[in-house]
Amino acid sequence: MTIAARILQITDLHLRDDPRGHLRGAITLETLTACLAETANQAPFDAILVTGDLVQDEPAGYRHLQRLLDQSTAPVLCLPGNHDDAGRLSDAFSAYPFQTCGHLTIGPWVAIGLDSTVPGQDGGALSDTELSRLDATLNRYADRPAIVALHHPPVTLGSRWLDTLGLADSERFWSVIDRHSNVRAVLFGHAHQAHESRRGLIQILGAPATSAQFLPGSDDFAIDDRPPGWRVLNLSPDGQLTTSIGWLSAY
Ligand SMILES: [Fe+2]
Repeated sequence: MTIAARILQITDLHLRDDPRGHLRGAITLETLTACLAETANQAPFDAILVTGDLVQDEPAGYRHLQRLLDQSTAPVLCLPGNHDDAGRLSDAFSAYPFQTCGHLTIGPWVAIGLDSTVPGQDGGALSDTELSRLDATLNRYADRPAIVALHHPPVTLGSRWLDTLGLADSERFWSVIDRHSNVRAVLFGHAHQAHESRRGLIQILGAPATSAQFLPGSDDFAIDDRPPGWRVLNLSPDGQLTTSIGWLSAY
């Protein structure tokens, strides 16, 4: 497959104000830094997508990601998760290479970033405004293969506790997607685990966290001992997509 562009997805960084701050055993700035160092071996990337929970309820943590990526030659599209402050995130990540939500053209593709957060809730939902923007952007770029990214999974994952905290009214999301023929992938975070499924031509992809993982398939909340990770996507000029997960080797 000819590769026209490559994307790095990182998610669920859960950074704290304190550089030594941790989440369920992971010192989150350390694990993120190690993931970025290891992904540098697979660079260059044409875009970096950061699919939510950049911080663990501490917006002072945004400065760590700014510092790590402010020299990035690739644009960095950031989305809020339930542990972010959407307003503070948008303020922190508005100048190049950063942007919050919106969309990016990446080679012959387009990537659209949605805000699925609901203030005060762990579960997600898409507002009418976001659904309209998705529809309009897919129309505008109907001649480009498209990737749609959001924090909350728009599918169930077979994990009882986590499936109560996904995207509410996901059928409204899919009804917009189904009106267009150019969507090739839907990317999400939130689940702290790798996921791959399909809906027709669309690959539905979840990535592991750069922090701690959740145990796949568990009815109740449980931590998995898999290492921090990320996802890489290879995009062809004609709308094909191959993807792989990376796991931090030195952990
Ligand atoms: Fe998270």
